[in-house]
Amino acid sequence: MSEQAPARAEEVTPESELVANRETHGDALKMFAIGAIASVVGVAFALIINWFPARAAKEADHIDTLWDVLLIASVPVFVLVEVVVLYCVVRFRMRPGEELKDGPPIHGNTSLEIVWTAIPAILLVGLCTYAYVVLTNVEKAQANTMNIRVMGQQFTWTFFYNRDGKEVASPQLYVPIGQPVKFRVQSRDVLHDFWVPGFRMKIDAVPGIDTSIRVTPNRIGTYPVVCAELCGLGHATMRQTAHVVSRQDFNAWLQKLGRPAPAAAGGGGAAPDGKTLFTDNGCGGCHTLADAGTSGTTGPDLGKVLKGKDKAFIHESIAKPDAQVEKGYQPGIMPPDFDQKLSPAQLNALVDYLSKVTQ
Ligand code: CUA
Repeated sequence: MSEQAPARAEEVTPESELVANRETHGDALKMFAIGAIASVVGVAFALIINWFPARAAKEADHIDTLWDVLLIASVPVFVLVEVVVLYCVVRFRMRPGEELKDGPPIHGNTSLEIVWTAIPAILLVGLCTYAYVVLTNVEKAQANTMNIRVMGQQFTWTFFYNRDGKEVASPQLYVPIGQPVKFRVQSRDVLHDFWVPGFRMKIDAVPGIDTSIRVTPNRIGTYPVVCAELCGLGHATMRQTAHVVSRQDFNAWLQKLGRPAPAAAGGGGAAPDGKTLFTDNGCGGCHTLADAGTSGTTGPDLGKVLKGKDKAFIHESIAKPDAQVEKGYQPGIMPPDFDQKLSPAQLNALVDYLSKVTQ
């Protein structure tokens, strides 16, 4: 019994163990060097790439910085792991004739284990703390906040503004520059997600509850509003436009919202312009109409399907879109409430316009 144990130990000569140790050390150094170079290159690439559209809100600055910090922290980790894996696959691969050979015995290394547990833990706690600080910062309530209610439905957004104590609806989003805005987000039917990529902020619209985000737009321009939650066949068309405008332009726009254009000569309100109604209500997002210069393909080409149709048909197609659905299209895609969103005069003006330009 006592004779066998030393005999075994002699099979591994101290000489070869020393060589193996030296090689492992060299391997680790090489991996570290390759990993460090690859990390620098990786971080440089990650920072050069333009990941996001133009920033249009104060919150976007904080969020983009957070993104950069996350890249700087996570790219080296990824690169390091990949380098070790690839290096080991190449360096320690089985060569011909080694099929029956076993690798050297591996023992635990307590200090190494402490290091590789502590570093990720510190990294994670640090990043979480930073992200938490950014989140509280962008969600902080601010003085003089303007409230806008956002209603999502298949497949459009409606924005409700407070004007002289009354709510007025708009199919387009207008916000004054520099104005802290709180969006109260709701849904009429299924889950949607209110997102203006330029603002970076994004929140689900959940039937039955209110969710909210805060944004302070800081760059004049127009930015897409998109739905970021798969909500049905028309999900991809659930796009509108956010207009960040000057305070003056905003006030002028809000005063006009939902009101007929002032009459030319003291009359009781001129007929609303059909073409404006068509574009303002986002009809062109789904429909092609040559006169309005739109090319949507989710719904039928109006120049074709309305040709030769009377006004009653056009009226019904808007008010009750599923009454007669064009062949090749599905019911339930077009919002069924345009007759409530538009006043009777507006609806008639839209019908007149469509009738005129499609005959
Ligand atoms: Cu609404 Cu996707």
